[in-house]
Amino acid sequence: MNPQQLCTAANQSANFIREQFASRTRHGIILGTGAGKLGDAIDTELTIDYGDIPNFPRSTVIGHKGQLICGTLAGTPVVAMQGRFHLYEGYPVDSATLPIHMMQRLGVEVLVVSNASGGMNPKMNSGDIMLIESHINLMFRSTPNMYNEPSRGRASHRSDVYDHALMKIAERCARKNGFAVHRGVYAAMLGPNYETRAEYRFLRQIGADVVGMSTVPEVCVAAKYEIRVLGLSVITNVANPDSMEATSGQKVVDAAEIAAPNLKAIVVDALKNG
Ligand code: HPA
Repeated sequence: MNPQQLCTAANQSANFIREQFASRTRHGIILGTGAGKLGDAIDTELTIDYGDIPNFPRSTVIGHKGQLICGTLAGTPVVAMQGRFHLYEGYPVDSATLPIHMMQRLGVEVLVVSNASGGMNPKMNSGDIMLIESHINLMFRSTPNMYNEPSRGRASHRSDVYDHALMKIAERCARKNGFAVHRGVYAAMLGPNYETRAEYRFLRQIGADVVGMSTVPEVCVAAKYEIRVLGLSVITNVANPDSMEATSGQKVVDAAEIAAPNLKAIVVDALKNG
């Protein structure tokens, strides 16, 4: 897609949603691997299969349902993606990030993104949550600048993509509820394989705390629109290169479920106060 086609596609998708869900939604959520259950906490007005939304690709991955939930969470109108599009599924960046272009047109100003990751920082355990403070993009794909969309200064520098006020809200929530959250750096790999020992060692050495295969394309698009982002990474496996254990899609989903109540508490507070 060229930028003009992408704009048209996003407008069509947004118009389709707006025809059915009239509430103005300032808040968007992307429910990552295993966080799909958080969708159950939404007071749902409408769910729409991705296959029914004009121009949307379909999600095929374990732990990802593939539907847009429109409703309210803790009294706040939200659009939530239950399931996302990964580059490793073969989607071009434009298709994988179309939902963010659509959300912007629906009025989204705050985006909460969750994902599953392998924890390389020795302080991090399976089931912990890390607030993404920064990322290292090793996907080697760029997100396009849009015609007619101002690429305002901040968007070209990625230093403040992740919103500090939202991170503070998340930390306050964790303290209040008696659980710990980390802050750290998310490295994004194209996947779909989990990393080799040598890759985990390399990623740790270049400054990453966790590694996953998503989120960065969506966040880069959100940043272009100056959407405030809270990135929540659930550590689903400890990636210690010196004592490797096998990881599977199912293990990742199981570990993510342990974090689900804490994740929900953070998302609710971020929506209420963010
Ligand atoms: N590597 C990449 N992606 C992941 C991992 C991992 O170890 N765990 C969950 N998603």
